[in-house]
Amino acid sequence: MRMAAALMTVACLAACGGGSNAAADATNASFASYDAGAVPGGPGAQQLYALGHAAADSATTAMNQDIGADGLELPAGSGSVARGVLVYKAQCAQCHGAQGEGLPTFPKLVGRDSAGTPTAEFQFATSNKTKTIGNYWPYATTLFDYIKRAMPFAAPGSMTDDDVYAVTAYLLSANAIIPDTVVLNAATLRAVRMPARDHFVPDNRKPNATMKE
Ligand code: HEC
Repeated sequence: MRMAAALMTVACLAACGGGSNAAADATNASFASYDAGAVPGGPGAQQLYALGHAAADSATTAMNQDIGADGLELPAGSGSVARGVLVYKAQCAQCHGAQGEGLPTFPKLVGRDSAGTPTAEFQFATSNKTKTIGNYWPYATTLFDYIKRAMPFAAPGSMTDDDVYAVTAYLLSANAIIPDTVVLNAATLRAVRMPARDHFVPDNRKPNATMKE
């Protein structure tokens, strides 16, 4: 009996699946016309919603400006702490607080929880140290990189390189890492050694074959 039921199911699939369902037919028909080139770009074109366009080389080059830990890609320009104070007040304080103390939901940027060099046992996972620039960032160069590309939050990439140098100088000075007389440029920024430098190890893994550099 069970065998007979199974055979009937197979028979029905063969006999009934050939096109008696009007709704499925309509759907299939619309896919067929879609595939046949009813969409701009023709069959196979990646234009389902006709949005976007191929990125021009000039556009990707303009965006490819990340600065690594060694700071080799740092741009020309310079900025003083005094100028950085003005930039910070105008473009950063509304979120990060007047003195970099942070505001609800916006991170604290300024603070050194321990004087001097942190100890070898220094562990963020188990300590209550705040992840400020003074406590946590291993490189000053990547601080510049982050600010240049990601801040201010609502208008990333809008600052001049001089202003990024200046506000970086202010933040390093406010974290008691450099004196407030230092003018930052590519060379002086590369020379800054961060208090948390030894708490990180360089990632020396080679990019794998599928990873784009
Ligand atoms: C509209 C609010 C806003 C403004 C204005 C703003 N930021 Fe931020 N900032 C944020 C938020 C939110 C984050 C956290 C982003 C994340 O974690 O993805 C952040 C993160 C940061 C960090 C990283 C903090 C850390 O250690 O993880 C730095 C540095 C920073 N901002 C600097 C600046 C500077 C410099 C300016 C001014 C030029 C600025 N921000 C302006 C909202 C703001």
